Amino acid sequence: MKTYIIAAVLLGLLISCNDDVAVSGGSSNSGMSLTDLPYNPERYEVVTPASYPELENPADNPLTVDGVELGRHLFYDPLLSVDSTMACASCHLASGGFTDNVAVSTGVGGLTTQRSSMSLVDVGFHLNGLFWDGRVQSLEEQALLPIEDEIELHHSWPEVVEDLQNHAEYPARFRAAFGIENTDEITRELAAKAIAQFERSIVSSGQSLYDRIRAGQAIAPSEEVLMGLRIFFDDDPNLPDGQCFHCHVDPLFTDNLYRNNGLDSVPDFSGFKDLGLGGFTGEQVENGRFRTPTLRNIEFTAPYMHDGRFETLEEVMDHYVSGGKPSINKDPLLDSIQLNEEQKAAVIAFLMTLSDTTALNDPRYAKPE
Ligand code: HEC
Ligand code: HEC
Repeated sequence: MKTYIIAAVLLGLLISCNDDVAVSGGSSNSGMSLTDLPYNPERYEVVTPASYPELENPADNPLTVDGVELGRHLFYDPLLSVDSTMACASCHLASGGFTDNVAVSTGVGGLTTQRSSMSLVDVGFHLNGLFWDGRVQSLEEQALLPIEDEIELHHSWPEVVEDLQNHAEYPARFRAAFGIENTDEITRELAAKAIAQFERSIVSSGQSLYDRIRAGQAIAPSEEVLMGLRIFFDDDPNLPDGQCFHCHVDPLFTDNLYRNNGLDSVPDFSGFKDLGLGGFTGEQVENGRFRTPTLRNIEFTAPYMHDGRFETLEEVMDHYVSGGKPSINKDPLLDSIQLNEEQKAAVIAFLMTLSDTTALNDPRYAKPE
């Protein structure tokens, strides 16, 4: 029996790329030994742009080739949702800079999320809390949540784990990734670790026009891009300051801090519709603050802000130039952004240089064949 199932697992690997195939005959893989299957962990090297800080890796979840590959399969697998219709990738599409291009996302049951989906490129560098409000501290912890979130995938982990244990391919993949010896050792924690490994592997390529200019590789940028760059970085005494770089800090284009950029007119701390960071920490002064998002791939991630309120970058620029709406903890940097039409357009032209189609089209991040 044991040999038969292992053969079926191997056969499944050989003949099938279909994630829905289960071990035939309705048999259960419960307690099945996996020690005959290969486990040769090989370090996965993440190559980041030269200007980047080092990618931190938790000691208890180092990236391996098979771990990242398992995570990729899970990330794209609708097996994680209650009715097998949605995967992580349904709301984090490579083509949308790993967002889904809607203001709020619709999950399996037709309910909508409270906030806008977030880009996952360089997510391994966001070390000051995840989500718009910072309520989760690690990718491993985060990956556990969407599966049982009633708005998102609305499944149950015990059932997902059972499906993974009885799957034609996954037992061998968990073995290869984590060296487990028995299907019973497949757990939600290992699944989350693999997803986190895959997410950490999704990094900027260094091939955006901006990165190439910065590395001295690209042809000279246009006058307009150069003007936008100087406004963005407050780099030219003859041009007005955009103030952008204080919060959208190079090279990640975020400071990973939580700020109120003046989206709503609010009389006091309790007036915010979405409390943001304060809703998580319980500190009133932190109400209405959200994590500064990266601007990399901003061309592809519309609509903008935590609630997707702006359809276009022109609307975003109009917002900043207006100084933002008054509220008690609005960031003072917003009070001094004065740009004319030409200058606003130049900043947008500069933002376009942050597009990284090399990363977004990278087959290593795409749905497995
Ligand atoms: C129904 C749509 C939906 C699905 C399915 C979904 N997400 Fe998300 N994701 C979101 C939304 C919306 C946010 C922002 C939520 C917030 O801030 O409250 C988010 C945020 C995140 C973040 C935080 C990024 C950051 O920079 O802080 C990560 C990581 C993430 N999702 C990974 C995943 C993974 C892994 C899965 C599958 C296990 C998944 N998501 C499934 C919609 C979705
Ligand atoms: C005081 C800090 C700060 C400054 C200055 C600032 N931003 Fe932002 N930016 C933020 C924060 C915080 C958010 C997210 C706000 C939210 O959704 O609640 C944001 C969001 C954005 C977004 C939407 C991103 C997304 O994924 O939805 C864009 C685009 C943007 N900023 C561009 C700029 C530009 C261009 C400038 C300069 C003209 C600028 N920002 C100046 C903090 C700042």
